[in-house]
Amino acid sequence: MHSTQEIAPDILSVGASDRRLALFENLFPLENGVTYNAYLIRDEKTALIDTVDASVSRQFFENLEAALAGRTPDYLVVNHMEPDHCASIAEVCARWPEVKIVGNKKTFTMIGQFFPVDLSSRFHEVKEGDTLPLGKRTLQFIMAPMVHWPEAMLTLETSGNILFSADAFGTFGGFNGNIFSDEMDFEALYLDESRRYYTNIVGKYGPQVLATLAKLGNALPALICPLHGPVLRGSAIPFLVDKYTHWASYQPEKRGIVLAYASMYGNTESATHALAAMLAARGVKDLRLFDASKTHYSYIIAEIFKYSHLVLAAPTYNMHLYNAMAALLRDMAALNIQNRKVAVIGNGTWAPAAHKLMLSMLGEMKNMEVVGEPLVILSSLKEAQIPAMETLADKLVASMV
Ligand code: FEO
Repeated sequence: MHSTQEIAPDILSVGASDRRLALFENLFPLENGVTYNAYLIRDEKTALIDTVDASVSRQFFENLEAALAGRTPDYLVVNHMEPDHCASIAEVCARWPEVKIVGNKKTFTMIGQFFPVDLSSRFHEVKEGDTLPLGKRTLQFIMAPMVHWPEAMLTLETSGNILFSADAFGTFGGFNGNIFSDEMDFEALYLDESRRYYTNIVGKYGPQVLATLAKLGNALPALICPLHGPVLRGSAIPFLVDKYTHWASYQPEKRGIVLAYASMYGNTESATHALAAMLAARGVKDLRLFDASKTHYSYIIAEIFKYSHLVLAAPTYNMHLYNAMAALLRDMAALNIQNRKVAVIGNGTWAPAAHKLMLSMLGEMKNMEVVGEPLVILSSLKEAQIPAMETLADKLVASMV
């Protein structure tokens, strides 16, 4: 059965939720699924904005057929060619041979790469600022390279100031029935997953995201229709634009400390808990503590983007850094994390090297300020080292002012 919803007069949501997928991109755990959004505009001409992942294509086509009510799609606008959105293009073209595909030069190169059929006779190429009249409504195209692939673009419906924003402003999490952000507790339901989605998927491309936000200017859209998650309306729009500005400029949202440890037998873990207790005793609130071997790195990355400070603690392993921590640091570097204050605890039983290796990896990131002296543990934290840890806690607190 179809489950379309009208998001504006004669604009319908025709996408679907997938709650069965365990790992988005076969990487990121999904606790509550994900949506693949697509939209149909019914004007004198009809325009389908993007398609969906293959996993929900049956629901998508039921929705689309219902929304078309016997009409034919005149245009298929392809804002993004990652397969979670482009997978159903070939089937749309097979069902409706008249449909024109609207995209840019890079879109069409990727269509040629992904699909074995030649769709080039349908291509309608657009560039920055080009418009496409549909009747009462007009589409305008805004190139958004690397948000999140090079061909990405946004589509603005100018009469209603409705932005179809591709991956931008998207989030993990399936729909609960309501589709608009102001018909739900958006912050409680989606903010953490929006942050985890952005920071892990698009986090590397902060400068490109800022450039795209600058193109939108100060006049915010009336509606933002992303490819994942709720349609944004009302206060959620400036709220999320502000979050994106922080995330894309690698500036923390809050002063606070994330403690991430890796621990083989519990000694590094115990030392991290001891430091966390000292920080709590000094009045630091909202501490966030993670075992990097247990918590998927995407959750820790999202918290690192959120907070100003970070404590990393890990053992030495075969003269290298224990892999759970090495993987977290590699991912931090890959996602361009910068502008954080970091303290380090290293452990080793006969030749401790973890502290130096963590400092070396942090040194390759931009503007990562090391707080205090690295605390080096030989196998386990000793009473004699408590004063050094107290000093580290003092320095962390002092650096938060
Ligand atoms: Fe939701 Fe970059 O794809």
